[in-house]
Amino acid sequence: MSYNLLKGKRGIIFGALDPNSIAWKTAERVHEEGGTFVLTNAPIAMRMGQINELAEKTGSQIIPADATSIEDLENLVAQSMEILGGKLDFVLHSIGMSINVRKGKHYTDQNYEWTQKGTDVSAMSFHKVMQTLYKADAMNEWGSIVALTYMAAQRVFPDYNDMADNKAYLESIARSFGYFFGKDKKVRVNTISQSPTPTTAGQGVKGFDGFIAYADRMSPLGNATALDCANYTVTLFSDLTKRVTLQNLFNDGGFSNMGVSDSVMAEFVKE
Ligand SMILES: NC(=O)c1ccc[n+]([C@@H]2O[C@H](COP(=O)([O-])OP(=O)(O)OC[C@H]3O[C@@H](n4cnc5c(N)ncnc54)[C@H](O)[C@@H]3O)[C@@H](O)[C@H]2O)c1
Repeated sequence: MSYNLLKGKRGIIFGALDPNSIAWKTAERVHEEGGTFVLTNAPIAMRMGQINELAEKTGSQIIPADATSIEDLENLVAQSMEILGGKLDFVLHSIGMSINVRKGKHYTDQNYEWTQKGTDVSAMSFHKVMQTLYKADAMNEWGSIVALTYMAAQRVFPDYNDMADNKAYLESIARSFGYFFGKDKKVRVNTISQSPTPTTAGQGVKGFDGFIAYADRMSPLGNATALDCANYTVTLFSDLTKRVTLQNLFNDGGFSNMGVSDSVMAEFVKE
């Protein structure tokens, strides 16, 4: 179903790797709502991924960019405005990566070069994206910038490893940069804290299958899917949420405010 919420709006979508990606679903929904955009991902991910399929389906162009490279980002922003024919209304940062997670390096035994790389890709890249947009004056007034995060930024999830710290940093950047983007350019900046979702990045976390089942049983509405996240993001890109900014918004079926659920308790009650 389409509500035409993004008719005439232009943007950039980072992070669509395959049809499971949250960014992939978001691109499909933004397209259905009338938005036009440039798709981007790290050059290496594009060689392995299926992004061409998505570009064709949504009538979009692809510009490779490593989100840790200022040069790549400057090129991306300049080219996107040219392709789309003006300044941007929305940007989705849907990027995450931890080498420590990927290689099974425990949180108490970090390889700090990997930690640093993960922080650069998963958190600092959000600052770099925003600084590039800000300096190029690339956002229209009442534009909207969204990044994706996870509740391990606030609470302990042992196997989330250094990504927990990266998400805390990412959420802080959203607030800090969001202040300047709001005051100087009337642009809002928010993070969506999403349920565990079966994507390439999600499934890389140790014990993911058990964890996603646990979260589902803890949440009164069940886990939010990638499509749910895409729909929520559409609302944040639309004109219906103009003064929502500097927020970390939970799209998690209620998980973040739960203590325990009947379903999880049933595992522990002896009778
Ligand atoms: N899957 C989950 O359980 C879950 C839960 C909450 C939040 N998130 C967040 O959602 C976002 C999207 O992840 P996803 O679950 O859709 O997985 P995904 O693996 O489909 O997407 C991650 C993307 O990051 C891209 N990326 C990695 N390094 C990059 C770089 N240097 N430059 C540009 N792009 C780079 C990858 O190519 C990939 O497209 C991430 O921020 C992730 O942390 C995921």
